[in-house]
Amino acid sequence: MAGRITFTIIKPGAVQNEHIGPILGKIAEAGFHIAGMKMVQLSRNEAQNFYCIHEDKPFFGELVEFMVSGPIVVALLEKDNAVEDFRKLIGSTDPKKAEPGTIRHMFAQSIQANAVHGSDSDENAIKESEYFFAGYEKFYKDKGGCLQGSMQ
Ligand code: CMP
Repeated sequence: MAGRITFTIIKPGAVQNEHIGPILGKIAEAGFHIAGMKMVQLSRNEAQNFYCIHEDKPFFGELVEFMVSGPIVVALLEKDNAVEDFRKLIGSTDPKKAEPGTIRHMFAQSIQANAVHGSDSDENAIKESEYFFAGYEKFYKDKGGCLQGSMQ
């Protein structure tokens, strides 16, 4: 069964262009519960670690520089079929290929400054949210037990 959590980042370009509110509005409208959220400034080392899966790609250096260029908003999202539904909501990585109405179609500037990140699997949703959120920062709607932080 597909998992109930995904993880997102509202990236520096979208934060700088005052798109936090409209993006969160689209996320809420699509039925996601925000189970954790904060605004942070990544260090170069933190950005390199987060995107280490791409370290051999030619765009890695630019991606890291972009991600440290300003504050980001990280959020833990909860909904049935969260990963797949969120990827549909945000659209293709390249905003030129994103469907009208998707978050990237509406708010992205380029493939690099593509407004938001969304986890690509249940496993990565857990890894990525654990990178940013401690157990006491997670507020699940479907508590599934008394220890909110360990329900995954
Ligand atoms: P994201 O979903 O955060 O995951 C990895 C990021 O790498 C991706 O969004 C893009 O911002 C970036 N990326 C992927 N492909 C390219 C590319 N060809 N050129 C520049 N950046 C890219």
